Amino acid sequence: MTILVTGAAGFIGSNFVLDWLSQSKEDVVSLDLLTYAGNLENLSSLNNNTHHHFVQGNIDDRDLVLNLLKKYRIRAVLNFAAESHVDRSIHQSKDFIETNIVGTYNLLESARSYWNDLDQNLKQDFRFLHISTDEVYGSLNSSDHPSTEKDTYKPNSPYSASKAASDHLVRAWFQTYKLPVFTANSANNYGPYQFPEKLIPLCILNALNGKPLPIYGDGQQIRDWLYVKDHCTAIREILKHGQIGETYNVGGWNEKTNLEVVETLCAILDELKPKSDGKSYAEQITFVKDRPGHDKRYAIDASKLRSEINWQPQESFETGLRKTVLWYLENETWMNHIVSGEYQDWVQKQYS
Ligand code: NAD
Ligand code: DAU
Repeated sequence: MTILVTGAAGFIGSNFVLDWLSQSKEDVVSLDLLTYAGNLENLSSLNNNTHHHFVQGNIDDRDLVLNLLKKYRIRAVLNFAAESHVDRSIHQSKDFIETNIVGTYNLLESARSYWNDLDQNLKQDFRFLHISTDEVYGSLNSSDHPSTEKDTYKPNSPYSASKAASDHLVRAWFQTYKLPVFTANSANNYGPYQFPEKLIPLCILNALNGKPLPIYGDGQQIRDWLYVKDHCTAIREILKHGQIGETYNVGGWNEKTNLEVVETLCAILDELKPKSDGKSYAEQITFVKDRPGHDKRYAIDASKLRSEINWQPQESFETGLRKTVLWYLENETWMNHIVSGEYQDWVQKQYS
């Protein structure tokens, strides 16, 4: 049997596929449209791996997806494919609606059509795991309890609204058609292969190039940070032990202000790659115009995953961040290939 991973050339998807194939002989079909965020270099270590099959295509394409499901006798679909960057959703939300909402709808319909025709045993074992975000719960005040799976959805950005809509579709396909689904709502991920439009890799790149480290507003917004490999383990465990129809919050128990994140990052860089002038990278921190509708705080209560599935993150923020910085320092070529063309246009549009 085989699993289908969508968005497999992106940040979390590629970490998941690499992690999966390092410990399982079960084949993976990676489906990815290869948008600006998809990068085949993330999967290049699998080029000679006969258990890995890459297909360039859209989750929206029902014929393509149905053919893949049948051809490879897929036993689980893991949907990582999405437009994922909040700032881009503020500039241009159309792709977010098309991929995150319409794309998820079409993927659900392809899965349902395939699942309906499976014989009883295969039908019983089939799973659809949808990867979503803590942003669907909206912004918390500093005294609020971290978001639990029972909390109301209050998305505030075009991105989080599109993810919330996709979560509702997944839920409805379970309630209405009994398609065996789960949803995993995770906190901010960081780690290898993250595209440098997101805070941590952007600041690593800018720090090394002597550029400003842009902090939106006063830098006091709080995010919960999860090392990507911990997220991958959680997804594997949910797939194995999760209860059909349930949602699971995946968090790192690592709430930090953005300023703390960037200061910690600078301290690690000061130690691992000191500047020739002896100054700290922290001197490059620059406060810039705030993100419109910037959510103040996200925090995840991941105790359901701990009590039901016995999962907890293995990395603290400090150990995970150190591994991340080391990875970027050791993978300069990967970074150099990414930061050409479209990336420069984005930086110009967002930060000029
Ligand atoms: P990413 O932007 O790095 O990767 C997304 C991938 O999806 C890219 O490879 C892209 O080419 C592909 N893709 C986009 N549209 C597609 C389409 N229509 N058909 C097929 N492939 C398509 O995103 P990421 O950070 O790896 O996030 C993966 C998933 O996890 C997303 O659903 C995101 O909402 C969710 N998530 C991300 C985080 C985070 O911190 N990065 C946290 C919680 C949840
Ligand atoms: O919470 C989960 C979400 O985390 C995921 O669903 C999204 O896909 C993912 O992109 C991430 O969203 P954020 O908006 O939190 O991530 P980002 O790295 O863009 O920003 C993190 C925080 O840092 C946020 O408060 C905005 C701030 N920031 C970001 C950038 C890019 C800055 O201060 N400066 C910046 O240049």
